[in-house]
Amino acid sequence: MARSVTFEELGPVGLICIDNPPVNAISHSVRLELVDAITRAERNSSIKVLLIMSSGELFSAGADISEFDRPEGEPSFQQVEARIEFCHLPVVAAIHGLALGGGLELVMACHYRLAHKNAKLGMPEITLGIIPGAGGTQRLPRLIGMRAALDMILSGTPVSALDAKAKGLVDEVAEGDLRDAALSFCKRLVHERLGPRPTCDRTVIEDLDDAAIAAALRPHARALKGRTTQDLVIEAIKASKLPFSQGIAIETALAQKSLATRESLALRHVFFAERESGKSSGVSSAKQAQPPWIRRVAIIGAGTMGSGIAMAFADAGLEVLVTDNDPAALTRSREIIQSTYASSVKRRRITQNIADDRIRHIRNSLVLAELADADLAIEAVFEDMELKKDVLSKLDSILPAERLLATNTSTLSVTELARATAHPERVLGLHFFVPAHASKLLEIVRTEYASAESLSTAFRVAKLLKKVAVVSRDAFGFIGNRMMLDGYFREAEQLLLEGATPRQVDTALENFGFAMGPQRVSDLGGNDVGTKARVQLFKRESRPDPYFVIADRLTEMGRLGQKTGRGFYGYESGSRDAVPDPEVIGIIEKLAAERGILRREINDQEIVERCILSLINVGSIVLEKGIAARAADIDVVWTSGYGFPRHLGGPMFYADTLGLSHVLQRIRHYYEKLGYYWRPAKLIERLVAAGSSFEQWDRNSISQ
Ligand code: 3HC
Ligand code: NAI
Repeated sequence: MARSVTFEELGPVGLICIDNPPVNAISHSVRLELVDAITRAERNSSIKVLLIMSSGELFSAGADISEFDRPEGEPSFQQVEARIEFCHLPVVAAIHGLALGGGLELVMACHYRLAHKNAKLGMPEITLGIIPGAGGTQRLPRLIGMRAALDMILSGTPVSALDAKAKGLVDEVAEGDLRDAALSFCKRLVHERLGPRPTCDRTVIEDLDDAAIAAALRPHARALKGRTTQDLVIEAIKASKLPFSQGIAIETALAQKSLATRESLALRHVFFAERESGKSSGVSSAKQAQPPWIRRVAIIGAGTMGSGIAMAFADAGLEVLVTDNDPAALTRSREIIQSTYASSVKRRRITQNIADDRIRHIRNSLVLAELADADLAIEAVFEDMELKKDVLSKLDSILPAERLLATNTSTLSVTELARATAHPERVLGLHFFVPAHASKLLEIVRTEYASAESLSTAFRVAKLLKKVAVVSRDAFGFIGNRMMLDGYFREAEQLLLEGATPRQVDTALENFGFAMGPQRVSDLGGNDVGTKARVQLFKRESRPDPYFVIADRLTEMGRLGQKTGRGFYGYESGSRDAVPDPEVIGIIEKLAAERGILRREINDQEIVERCILSLINVGSIVLEKGIAARAADIDVVWTSGYGFPRHLGGPMFYADTLGLSHVLQRIRHYYEKLGYYWRPAKLIERLVAAGSSFEQWDRNSISQ
């Protein structure tokens, strides 16, 4: 069996190397082999110092998350760390790439620490809903102080090697070859007779009072909204004032508690769902296949989306050619791109040099033929079927036959667009979201013609752009917009007709965990944009009245949202604060009366229940129609692209948490009360009859 830890004797240095691809997770077998290697080194009298390094691109991504639901087994993390800390030889850790979570905790148990200057060190456990459980909450405060430790654990974001050195987390930062630097460091220790230096022997002198805790929480308030893990983190960090053995016992108990929370189950579900999207329905081989190298990208249409997509690729270091048939559009696009980068520089997100470099990566042209040498072309011209067919068929004749042709359409049939070319197998939808350079989600829309190579290239694109990709079959609204329109947003509108106010609906859903309620989202994106999209979508499939009658009426009245200072709310000039507007209530009352709907008091619980259940019901339809391959894909779409609270795991995971028989019973209740749109999805009925869940359904479909 391949070993995941190797041992090498290099004169007085015993080099232990963790080799557990892809990310050197500290699995049970790694822990076993680490202890073996330490024992071997201790028995060898010629070894005077131990050096722990890793192979591959990073030191370690931490504990093996896939083992979390099993008993930890022996040796536990803490046993390995105690073995290191009380080793009679000095132990040095040398970090390259990333040292995260349990990886960093292992490093902190070593007596000396070196990091390559490009390395990053972090405690991302909170993003998984757990607290560091391998001594991190006890050793980190001993090394860098309680407040800095609390900030690092609450943020979950890694710090640079230089920052780590400034904080006292590492002793030295190496510039050149890390192995050479670490070996000389080890030899220096031997020469200077410097021995073990257990971190657990240090004491924490700093205090953590309520004011310090409040200050530490403040910057993370948005990310931690509705969460509970931070309370456990604080409790554990406070325990670092106690003797180490007591502190570690408290940490262990709190870590166990955190592992069992719904929040942690949900966040771990999303973590794996994001990485597994596409590993089913024949996409798996496409995701893993080696797609062609992508260096140059052509974008056709220099509007809002084209400019955003151009920046997304420039950010990833690719060459971008943007074409448009309107010279004024190209000028506007350049201005948008320049001002977006200028604002990133102003906010200190990037330096001026980086901004200049990215702008240099984007060229403009009025001539379509100039993009013949592009490795990939994405069209983002006006949302018009005939226009897009024309553009795609021209691209088809210009670009060599194996290159991917993508459309950014959000409403049109990608299948029909593909048929307009001589090579429909190379046409896909790449559905970017606004703002395309910053949004995390990319829906890959596949048709029945799409080849594995095209899908594989699309996954590569997502990886290059650091976006989460989910495959959707070509259908009304794809995955995300269909669920938004037929479920969540539609129900929010219905609630307005029945008696709720925009403020009430938004607040209820914001309290549930969405960053912004549906009406504020509509005002931000523009009510006209929604109306236009629905008109296009209706050409594919119609929907009976009432269907967004309020939003459409607001559009007719020029109440387009923030951009016109009036939409579902009013906006003071230059302000984004949504102010309730009595005129809107009047409009809603009139539309309700026209439809014979008697308005009544509606409470927040009903608002949340109806919006979320309708999302789940439409999600089930999306699954039974095969538009999404897995329930987990839907969760990824909604947590990464539509603001569904990640700590609730996405709508389908949340449905399982509620219990599907309860979900079905409530859907039936609304179906009896409200009719049509609430017809229960057959899939939910089937799952309930079988005593199953969406998670089980995913497992079955993967094993098929
Ligand atoms: N355990 C198990 N598998 C892991 C893992 C981990 N900690 N981290 C990553 N993987 C797996 C992924 O599932 C993926 O598997 P796949 O190829 O089968 O889909 C593979 O490694 C590659 O991961 P990515 O696709 O994410 O690769 P990237 O290069 O994009 O990112 C990374 C690498 C930044 C390390 C990212 O994977 C990551 O953030 N990992 C999680 C880090 C983390 O949260 N660590 C803390 C773990 S909890 C802990 O340590 C508890 C401790 O306190 C006891
Ligand atoms: P836009 O109106 O801002 O830009 C479209 C651009 O295409 C214009 O600059 C126009 O001059 C150019 N164009 C038109 N015909 C052309 C041709 N024959 N050759 C070259 N250029 C041509 O539109 P926007 O908002 O950027 O949308 C573009 C596409 O992205 C549409 O398909 C839209 O549905 C889709 N989309 C839009 C989203 C949004 O919220 N704006 C979100 C996701 C997708």
